Amino acid sequence: DKEGEKTLRSPICCIMGHVDTGKTKLLDCIRRTNVQEGEAGGITQQIGATYIPAENIRERTKELKADALLNVPGLLVIDTPGHESFKNLRSRGSGLCDIGILVVDIMHGLEPQTIESLNLLRMRNTEFIVALNKVDRLYGWKACRNAPIGKAMKQQSKGVKLEFDHRLTQIIAQFKEQGLNTELYSKNKERGETYSIVPTSAISGEGIPEMILLLVQWAQKTMIEKLTYSNEIQCTVLEVKVIEGLGATIDVVLVNGVLHEGDEIVVCGFQGPIHTTIRSLLTPHPMKELRVKGAYIHHKEIKAAQGIKITAQNLEHAVAGTALYVVGPGDDVKELKESVMDDMRNVMSRVDKSGEGVFVQASTLGSLEALLEFLKTPAVSIPVNGIGIGPVHKKDILKAGTMKKKEYKTILAFDVKVTPEAQEHADNNGVTIFIAHIIYHLFDQFKAYIDKLKE
Ligand code: GTP
Ligand code: MG
Ligand code: NA
Repeated sequence: DKEGEKTLRSPICCIMGHVDTGKTKLLDCIRRTNVQEGEAGGITQQIGATYIPAENIRERTKELKADALLNVPGLLVIDTPGHESFKNLRSRGSGLCDIGILVVDIMHGLEPQTIESLNLLRMRNTEFIVALNKVDRLYGWKACRNAPIGKAMKQQSKGVKLEFDHRLTQIIAQFKEQGLNTELYSKNKERGETYSIVPTSAISGEGIPEMILLLVQWAQKTMIEKLTYSNEIQCTVLEVKVIEGLGATIDVVLVNGVLHEGDEIVVCGFQGPIHTTIRSLLTPHPMKELRVKGAYIHHKEIKAAQGIKITAQNLEHAVAGTALYVVGPGDDVKELKESVMDDMRNVMSRVDKSGEGVFVQASTLGSLEALLEFLKTPAVSIPVNGIGIGPVHKKDILKAGTMKKKEYKTILAFDVKVTPEAQEHADNNGVTIFIAHIIYHLFDQFKAYIDKLKE
């Protein structure tokens, strides 16, 4: 980069909304991928990140003839789950972003997690646009693949236009009830005061050009200061994952600064601060999802904003949602260690180690947090005595075996494997393991078990 010239980093955009409104599908449409169909139960249960380079933004918006207006290197998009159990991940995602997309299903209007997401965005004063998705479901919709919505609308029959106007008016009124002024993007003369609504279809691609362009233009126009690249590292751990062949890894979002292979880092750990050295810096290919296992690109160094997988020793107890620090020349490691631990507390405070309760094991800390949150809700209300991340091992069975009540000699395993040794030990010691890949199925299984015990 030329000295003295202000360079911008990529804006970070978080996509939020109620379950099944089409958040992942919209990203699939932009990426030309098929992540959504690979999800268990078709629901997103992890936070994701995808880098969209400027050239792809140009390509996707070229019909709108806005090329010259692009001066960010790309866009980093964070996908979040819409299912009610994942408020923590929505909160983590929205906490990272510069700008948001709030997705609303045109056939459903505002739903509970639409409002929750809206409030998370407003709480942090985050600018956002509304994607009014699934327009192709309007009766008689004529598909105009990947066309700008302005163009697609002109092709529609009078009936479609009437139904669209009717639903749009209702949804604008629903937003108004939430204290929010919204308007169709093309009529919105008071951007900033009034939020823009862009009609989209994630299936046939109409409106995607406007959606991307509005985001990038709005970010460039209103947040130059915030997007000015700075060398100061700002980095958050999204997820902690054990990956075959790589061991425990962390997925991070680098908001600002540069990370290098060999950098000494400090992150928050369940059992105290973790001080380690970056072994490798991996990213998926551009336009691919970080949370989906695939081919990784190795980097010697990498500049913000990016979603990155870091491999290093001792990461297995890292805590998602906390800050990552790089030990710079003259930095006091002891001080950094204290700082990272400030973030923690939250998760551990949810586990009552004194009483009786089930054991919960999950694939990532993010899903573990979500599961704990879910088990705590009044309708579910299952006490938890122990938690863990990764496969279920014999030692976990031993712990569960110490519970007195039969119903708590139980492991709720979410999206993890059970080692054969652990399974054998469980069978011989009256410990029951419930395995599920969808969070609420665990509850259903456990509830059925309790009911059976009571008989
Ligand atoms: P969660 O991540 O689980 O909250 O859901 P999501 O908001 O990511 O929605 P997802 O992408 O999983 O889509 C949910 C369902 O709606 C899938 O069956 C999609 O194929 C469908 N869908 C998404 N967008 C559209 C759209 O624009 N038109 C139509 N007809 N269907 C859509
Ligand atoms: Mg999704
Ligand atoms: Na879904």
